[in-house]
Amino acid sequence: MCGIVGYVGSAPVSETILDALSRLEYRGYDSAGIAILNSKGLEVRKRTGKLKALAEALQQEPVEGHIGIGHTRWATHGEPTEVNAHPHTDCTGTLAIVHNGIIENYAELKERLLAQGHTFRSQTDTEIFAHLVEEFLKAHPIDAAFRLALKELKGSYAVVLVSAREPHRLFGARNASPLIVGVGKGETFFASDVPAILERTRSVVYLNDHEAVELTVDGPRLTTLEGKPIRRQPTKIEWNLAAARKGGFPHFMLKEIHEQPAAIEQTLMNRLDPAKARVTFDRKTKAFLDTLHANERVIIIACGTAYHAGVVGEYMLEEFVRIPVDVDLASEFRYRDPMLDRRTTVIAITQSGETADTLAGVRLAKEHGAKILTICNVMGSSIARASDAVIYTHAGPEIAVASTKAYTSQVTALALLTLYLAKKRGHLSGAPWRRLVEGLANVPRLIEQALQAEPEIKAIAAKYAAARNFYYLGRRYNVPTALEGALKLKEICPLIHAEGYAAGEMKHGPISLIRDGWPVVVIATHSSVYDKVVSNIEEVRARKGHCIVIASEGDHAIKRHANSLITVPKTEEIFSPIIAAIPSQLFAYYVADANGCDIDQPPNLAKSVTVE
Ligand code: AGP
Repeated sequence: MCGIVGYVGSAPVSETILDALSRLEYRGYDSAGIAILNSKGLEVRKRTGKLKALAEALQQEPVEGHIGIGHTRWATHGEPTEVNAHPHTDCTGTLAIVHNGIIENYAELKERLLAQGHTFRSQTDTEIFAHLVEEFLKAHPIDAAFRLALKELKGSYAVVLVSAREPHRLFGARNASPLIVGVGKGETFFASDVPAILERTRSVVYLNDHEAVELTVDGPRLTTLEGKPIRRQPTKIEWNLAAARKGGFPHFMLKEIHEQPAAIEQTLMNRLDPAKARVTFDRKTKAFLDTLHANERVIIIACGTAYHAGVVGEYMLEEFVRIPVDVDLASEFRYRDPMLDRRTTVIAITQSGETADTLAGVRLAKEHGAKILTICNVMGSSIARASDAVIYTHAGPEIAVASTKAYTSQVTALALLTLYLAKKRGHLSGAPWRRLVEGLANVPRLIEQALQAEPEIKAIAAKYAAARNFYYLGRRYNVPTALEGALKLKEICPLIHAEGYAAGEMKHGPISLIRDGWPVVVIATHSSVYDKVVSNIEEVRARKGHCIVIASEGDHAIKRHANSLITVPKTEEIFSPIIAAIPSQLFAYYVADANGCDIDQPPNLAKSVTVE
């Protein structure tokens, strides 16, 4: 996720900004840039890749000044190129901005600005903001122009602006993307996150959505977007640097678990419109989906957690689109001589877009004439580039090795794809269609509710932390939840062996191991197979196994079947794997934590598996 820094003060400005940006590196990025104001005007430097490249550029061509902005970009709109890197300037080159988030209505704003004669250089959604302010500057002073431009934006943003007309002030604002103000001695900062400025000041002003800030060396001046002053005292930060990087959470994994409501919002953004009961994709993806044959065959390929998302996708697409789907582990697919032709679409699912087996599968499928649609989190990654169309999950960088928000955002992207195709092919309409659209729009709120059960989950995890074998069971949409729950636990707690099964398979073998106190996590949420799952619970309990049941809120009858009960909000069965994943992630996290495991960097595992 992009990192933003703004600086007003008397320290060497490019060094200060570079240093602050380097403290935001954990957020992930693929290019970086800086804009500094001095007697020559605004000077901008950008480089793709790591900050080192930008630092070298600044060494070769130093820029002096006392006010400036900097940015590390994690590409969302437009590939990670130098042109797309921030800061972006207006037509006159006298104002520059940095942005984090997604401007939902950028296409319509761009069309309007093009008609007004503005010239664009990048493919980003961000650049429109510079031109929008430029346009308002024709009739308004800069503070008003900045606020008027903000009012035009739909979507999420944290923005900071520097203007050659204002040598002593920066302007900043946020909506659903992070931005804070640091107030130091004789210097002030904007930053995406506290670690950027912690070495210089512990005095922080937290900003709320739809507030505008003018920042001078004396401090911030906050107003509403109408210009009404807001008073806010700075907060003193007590965390150390390591804790601050994790937003106060002890591990990135826990931070990322808690980021899921926002991550899913980003996946849905611009694609799901509950008010208009509409699901849509960008032009290229829609064009791709329009070429699918009536008898198209789909093969989903992926590895690990992404494979589990693929299994959910299989259930979704077959039930609602009535399209035949096979799901394959990419490492098997690439070597099993699969049957492929022009009427086959291969859907590759990958967080990193760099997994060697998935990439090889994509290349093989292409050679045999299949079409490739990728669901991916990293823009411009190798698999994204090798594909005919890409649905980006926009979940933000995932740092913990164990995938959490990447998984739920992949399942969300598959739900969007399913709804889009089901509507297009006439399998869904009227009330059922609206119910599913509303259900999907509700998912971020339901995840927030599911997260509330954290204290109870922690207590249950403490109870079972000494166990060394776990089973996970589910049926239909929650078979993959069981597989993923077991993977999460064994991944981050290597002391434990955990297996996930389709609950109906228990009696065909695994049940032989069940003995007194053997913990079995069962997903028994509201579904068409609920009664069957309850029977499976009883089969386990008859052998004295202990069932940790994840059930829907309001299901009182389940209590007598559960040794420990975790409840999650009710949802349509199709979305239940997203909601049920939350307690399962938290359970794995707290069991591993109680066992003193290295949660973010488990032994023998890598975040991105770029070798066979
Ligand atoms: C998830 O917790 C794992 N770290 C792993 O299974 C991962 O999902 C797999 O390696 C695939 O990675 P990708 O999504 O980046 O392709």
